[in-house]
Amino acid sequence: MPSIFAVICLALCTLPYAFAQQTIAPQMQASAATINTSEDLWWKHAVIYEIYPRSFQDSDNDGIGDINGIESRLSYLKQLGIDAIWITPMYPSPQVDFGYDIADYEAIDPQYGTMSDFDALLHAAKAQGIRVIMDLVLNHTSDQHPWFKQSRSSRTNPKRDWYIWRDGKNGGPPNNWQSWFGHSAWTLDPTTGQYYYHHFYVQQPDLNWRNPAVRKAMYDVMRFWLDKGVSGFRLDAVSRLFEDENLHDDPYLPGYNAFGDRNIQHKYTDNLPEIHDVFREIRKLVDEYPGHPILLSEADEPTVDELSKMYGANNDEVQLPMDFQIADLNTLSAPRFRKLFDEVENNPAHGWPEYFFSNHDQVRQWERYGDGKHDEQIARLMAMLELFPRATPQLYYGEEIGMRTTEPQRKEDVRDPIGITGWPKEKGRDGERTPMQWTTAAPNAGFTAPNVTPWLPVPPNARTINVETEAADPDSLLSFYKALLKLRHTEPALVFGDYTTINPDEENVFSFLRRPPAQGRSVLVALNMSSKKQTMGFDLSHQNIKTKEASILESNFGPSHGTLDLRRIVLPPYGAIVLAVQ
Ligand code: GLC
Ligand code: MG
Repeated sequence: MPSIFAVICLALCTLPYAFAQQTIAPQMQASAATINTSEDLWWKHAVIYEIYPRSFQDSDNDGIGDINGIESRLSYLKQLGIDAIWITPMYPSPQVDFGYDIADYEAIDPQYGTMSDFDALLHAAKAQGIRVIMDLVLNHTSDQHPWFKQSRSSRTNPKRDWYIWRDGKNGGPPNNWQSWFGHSAWTLDPTTGQYYYHHFYVQQPDLNWRNPAVRKAMYDVMRFWLDKGVSGFRLDAVSRLFEDENLHDDPYLPGYNAFGDRNIQHKYTDNLPEIHDVFREIRKLVDEYPGHPILLSEADEPTVDELSKMYGANNDEVQLPMDFQIADLNTLSAPRFRKLFDEVENNPAHGWPEYFFSNHDQVRQWERYGDGKHDEQIARLMAMLELFPRATPQLYYGEEIGMRTTEPQRKEDVRDPIGITGWPKEKGRDGERTPMQWTTAAPNAGFTAPNVTPWLPVPPNARTINVETEAADPDSLLSFYKALLKLRHTEPALVFGDYTTINPDEENVFSFLRRPPAQGRSVLVALNMSSKKQTMGFDLSHQNIKTKEASILESNFGPSHGTLDLRRIVLPPYGAIVLAVQ
C-alpha cells in the first residue's frame, strides 16, 4: 500500500542525497579531505568507538581505567578516524555488573574520577571534534540506589511502586520468569515478605515503567546529561522495560542453559509494545536539544522486522538500533551475510543501519571469525565488512589492533559474576574486557604502571599486539584500519552512496556496490569469505557503469593501488578488495 508515510519518507530519504549533490562537488577535487556532512545527519556518517572505561587507560595507577585516561587518548582516537565515543557506565555503582548497576544517575564513580574530570573530557573531546555518548540504564538500578532502598523499606513507602513487587505463589516465586543471568528473576525480600523482579542480577531490581514518576525521574536524568552537552545515549537492555502485568508464565524451550536452568523464551518480559511509547517520549526529549543528540539502542532482536520497529512507525523513535543479527552470525558465509545486509539495508522503516562485530558482552571478532590460519587476513576482511556498507559502524576498543579474547583460566580469577555462576560452561565476559594494549612495555602495556596489578590481567600477547608497535608499522592492522577509516570519510560514494548487492548468487564472495548520488566514481567491495582462491567477473552495466577497468583503493592481500580488469579479478583465500569504478 503506497501510504502517505511512504511518500513522505521517500522525500526525506532522498534529502541527504540532494544535499550531497550540492556540497560534495568541490571536495571531490580536493582528494583525501574529510567530507563535511550536514550537522543534523552527523550520526549517519560518524564512526562510533565503544570504550569500556575500566579497561581503556588508567591515569592514577590504581589498576582501573578512568576519565582522565580517556582524555589522554583523545588524540589517538582522532588520528584513528573516530567521530564519537560511547562510554559504558561511569556512574557511582557497587560494580556488581561493572557499572550497569547504577546507584546514582547524576554523578561519577570516584574510581573513574570526578564530575569536573567528566566536564573536562567533554570539553577536550569537543575541541577534537569527538562527540560523547553516555550509556543509560533505564531498565533497572542498583539495589543500593536510594530509590530501591526506600522501595524495599515498607509496603507503603511512596517509592514502593517504583519497582515490581509481587506476592509469591505456592511457597515460591510469583511465576517462572528467569533472569538473563541465571535462575529465577524474582527474589524474596524478607523485610516485607514480597518478591521483586530483576531481569538481570539480584542486585539489579527492575524499575516499574508503568509508574509516571519513574519516567519523569529518568527523563530528568537524561536532561541532566544533555544540559552538559553529551551527544546522546546508548540505551541499555531497553527492550526489557515492561513485563506482562498478568504475570503469564514464559514458555519453555528444549534443553538447559549454562546456568543449569531450563531454556525459556522471554515472551512476557521482552519487547512488550509499551516500549514504543517510551521511545517516542525520549526521542521527543532529545530532539529538543541542540547538536542533534541521538538514541542508540541495544537491540538484540530476532528478525529485521522486530529491529525495524525500533525506528518507530514514523521514524520518531530510536535513530540507531544496533544490529545484533549481523554481529552474532559467528561464521563467514557470503550468502548469509548478503541476506542479512540486504534485509537491514531494506528494512521496512527505512531506518539507518548500525553495525558492529565486537562489544563488552561477547567474544571478540578475532576469535569468532578467525579460522586459526588466516586470522590476520580475516580481521582485515571483517574491517571492510564493518566500515563500508551504508551504515554507521561501531568499533570496540582494541579491535583496531587485533586484540584477542583472553578468558580466565581458573574460576577463582573470574571477575564477571556470570562467569562464576556459569563456570565452566559460561566463563563470563572478562575475556573481552582486558586492558587496552598501548605499548610494548611489560607487564602492563602502558595501561597502568608496571608495578600495579590491573583489575584484569594484561594478556602476554601485548608484547607484540599493541598501539606502539602497530603505529610504527605501515602494514599493521592498525595502519589498515586507519586507511579504511580515511577512505570512509573521504570517498563520496562511501559517505553518501546507496548500497546494492552484486553477483547475488555467488556462494563464496560477498560483493556490494556503493554508488554516489551525483556523478563520480562508485566503490565496489568484494570479500572472499572462503579458504579457496576465487576468480570473479563483474558486469556492472545494469548499474549504469560501462567501464571494464577498476582502480584499487585498498586490499588485504598486497596491492593498494593499480588497476584491474573487472572481468577477471582473482581473490586469494579470504582476499578482500575495494575498487573504484567510474
Ligand atoms: C546490557 C549490557 C550488559 C549488562 C546488561 C545488564 O546487556 O551490555 O553488559 O550486563 O545490559 O545491564
Ligand atoms: Mg585509575
